[in-house]
Amino acid sequence: MSVGKAIGLGEEPTMSRVIEITGLHRIYETAAGPTPALRGVSFYVDKAEFVAIMGPSGSGKSTLMNILGCLDRPTLGRYLFAGTDVASLSDNQLADLRATQIGFVFQNFNLLSRATVLRNVMLPLVYTACPHAEREQRARTALRAVGIEEEYFEHKSNEISGGQMQRVAIARALVNNPELILADEPTGNLDSATGEMVLNTFEVLRRQHRTIVLITHNEEVASRADRILYIKDGLLVNEERLRGGGGARVAEPMEAAEPVESDEPAEFADETAAPADETADLAYDFDPADLDDPAETAELAYDFDPAELDDDPTEPADLPDEGSAADGHS
Ligand SMILES: Nc1ncnc2c1ncn2[C@@H]1O[C@H](COP(=O)(O)OP(=O)(O)OP(=O)(O)O)[C@@H](O)[C@H]1O
Ligand SMILES: [Mg+2]
Repeated sequence: MSVGKAIGLGEEPTMSRVIEITGLHRIYETAAGPTPALRGVSFYVDKAEFVAIMGPSGSGKSTLMNILGCLDRPTLGRYLFAGTDVASLSDNQLADLRATQIGFVFQNFNLLSRATVLRNVMLPLVYTACPHAEREQRARTALRAVGIEEEYFEHKSNEISGGQMQRVAIARALVNNPELILADEPTGNLDSATGEMVLNTFEVLRRQHRTIVLITHNEEVASRADRILYIKDGLLVNEERLRGGGGARVAEPMEAAEPVESDEPAEFADETAAPADETADLAYDFDPADLDDPAETAELAYDFDPAELDDDPTEPADLPDEGSAADGHS
């Protein structure tokens, strides 16, 4: 019996596959008894694919996202992340994977409200070998790239607007140059104009061949994706391909594939830095005058050179200092 028969599955797994799930079930134990939220879901997402997930309220989308993000484990079924069976990882290893390879964007932003905007964006870097001085620089660059102005960097994250919060959350999701970006209703709490800014970010990320899985109720949002998966009653019921084919637009194996290609920043710059009005459209309404070099900034924000991370392997020693911000000891 193949309930929720694999959609697009059946090929041999390849190293370009970021996500491969097979027969995924998630049953919540509630006072009213077991609640099956996922009932045998199978699909894959290739490197560089932008996949949207749609479906009615209660169909299991967030449940699925929590599992894809390693925030929750399936009741049954297999989840391979970049070829690794997630079930074989310890909680610490999962936390490490979340911290270094997955960028999250949530409907309710999930920022640390008592920490500053800047600190929120720096946090993912605390768990990497990124040198301390560079963390702040990267966070600042990422914030500027999503249109957050300098004057807000030291604001507490509960002292900015909803649209700003989501852009801060996107900066936080990108600052670590993750393998996978997961977004659960990223425009759900935003007015249409602000939602459009957030959408344009995803458009930029798509053009950079980022791997993105995005949940949405909004057809306009979903139309930006390469592929739409439809989920209903805990099952995948349909798939629609909007662009691309096979999802394997990046040929090299995942281990070797770093997003920093020598021509990649140039492509990004071409798309965003040419006419001023187009720049504003793609990179929100931030004032290019705030930046010394918008193209360079965009490059830094989205295409960090991983080699820079190796500058000072002793840096993680100061991790507890960084962590104290999150502990809430003020
Ligand atoms: N922690 C939980 N405990 C028990 N049941 C849950 C839990 N989380 C979700 N559910 C149930 O699982 C089902 C799927 O919920 P889920 O949140 O994944 O839906 P969704 O597709 O994200 O919906 P929405 O579009 O409203 O966000 C629902 O029936 C929901 O009530
Ligand atoms: Mg949900």
